[in-house]
Amino acid sequence: MAVLRIFHYPEPVLNQKAQPVEQIDGELKILARDMAETMYAAPGVGLAAPQVGISKRMVVIDCARKDQEPQLIVAVNPEIVEEQGELFEEEGCLSVPGYYARVPRSARVKVRYQNLEGQVVEQEVEELLAVAFQHEIDHLEGTLFVDHLSPLKRSIFRKKYKKMLAQQQEQM
Ligand code: NI
Repeated sequence: MAVLRIFHYPEPVLNQKAQPVEQIDGELKILARDMAETMYAAPGVGLAAPQVGISKRMVVIDCARKDQEPQLIVAVNPEIVEEQGELFEEEGCLSVPGYYARVPRSARVKVRYQNLEGQVVEQEVEELLAVAFQHEIDHLEGTLFVDHLSPLKRSIFRKKYKKMLAQQQEQM
């Protein structure tokens, strides 16, 4: 198992539309395992392949609470097929460290994906898990949660983030 390097905004791979997975093979399974390891190590509740520099349509998610057993979901070629309601929860992203914001999401979604056995899974999810699926599927389209901010909030984010990067640079 390996903890992979997480790519940070504004690295270009995060803005690219990821390619569909054609074949679920051993290499993909190793990538899924390493992505899960990377997510748990961070720690985070979700990670998409582009965040480790691989432009493929696969995400890992685990929204189990700390007092629950892990509930790892590996979703290959995931898509949202139905959505309902609205949510406005605070989100963060392992590729945008140190920044959190509320962005509009659907409260309940039906997702369809393939698992690592190649079976098609349809799942209805809500709340945190629904947000996680929307956030991670966005990554496959090259969209980050900060892209959902209003223009004003986005420009504030850019300034803040630039400042933070400059401070990190100084510390190195
Ligand atoms: Ni993210």
